Amino acid sequence: MSNTVVYLPQMDRPGRHPATSPTRNMVCIASGKGGVGKTWLAVSLSHALARQGSSTLLFDGDLGLANVDVQLGLMPDRDLAGVVEGDYRLQDAIVAHAGGGFDVLAGRSGSASLASLESASLLGLRAELLQQATRYDRIVVDLGAGIDSAVRAMVDAAGCTLVVTTDEPTALTDAYAFIKLTNQRRGGSDLRVVVNMAPSHREGERTYAKLLKACEGFLKLSPPLAGVIRRDERVRDAIRHQTSLLTRHPGSEAASDIEALARRLLDSA
Ligand SMILES: Nc1ncnc2c1ncn2[C@@H]1O[C@H](COP(=O)(O)OP(=O)(O)OP(=O)(O)O)[C@@H](O)[C@H]1O
Ligand SMILES: [Mg+2]
Repeated sequence: MSNTVVYLPQMDRPGRHPATSPTRNMVCIASGKGGVGKTWLAVSLSHALARQGSSTLLFDGDLGLANVDVQLGLMPDRDLAGVVEGDYRLQDAIVAHAGGGFDVLAGRSGSASLASLESASLLGLRAELLQQATRYDRIVVDLGAGIDSAVRAMVDAAGCTLVVTTDEPTALTDAYAFIKLTNQRRGGSDLRVVVNMAPSHREGERTYAKLLKACEGFLKLSPPLAGVIRRDERVRDAIRHQTSLLTRHPGSEAASDIEALARRLLDSA
């Protein structure tokens, strides 16, 4: 496969992302630290939104290490790598996930052409994605950890970004750094916090309170709590079986927390 760039620059200057107005129905799932549960959350949230009647597209925006398809047990014959290699158009790479009632635009883990997308191509890809946004009630974007240029490009276009953390000090420190840097670059971004793998709702709220204190003290910002998701062994079981938690363990604690998160998201928009 070639690394041919097929997207044309959109009014960009090298190294800068041009201003784009937020796409209200686009929700990014981000974090400072890796491994906090973003991909699982993106998959489960997409399923919950679909169950609550929203037409939803799940976009795998973790360009180097995509694994939405792995968590869902999908083997799509079209994906984002094929799009950037010019084999087909982005809208033709969208596949229906019949079991979940939502659509998926899968990545391709280890794809060099995706991992090394240049700024102009990234913006072209984003523009194509935003065009698709009009066809859906919600677009959920799973991102890689941290704040590299691919993450920034998506977060800048999102109506809202869920910043996922756990109670680990490193995850909290990195969530704070993510919020700080995003706000420095784009003041007024709608950033909301999700505490994942919490021992209880109460503990999760305590974790959020620590992050909020730092944000209010140092940044004069008060990102709201979008939700607390409890640690639940059935999450691992569902991932091992490459099935959405809401299908495999619909009555589990984490499933009910995800449903509540989806409801709040729909109510707030
Ligand atoms: N609520 C939860 N309860 C128990 N385990 C969880 C929960 N959420 C996530 N996990 C565990 O965390 C692991 C990592 O999840 P996931 O791959 O979604 O993280 P990630 O943030 O996307 O990682 P990366 O930064 O590498 O992309 C999962 O394999 C799962 O075992
Ligand atoms: Mg991930």
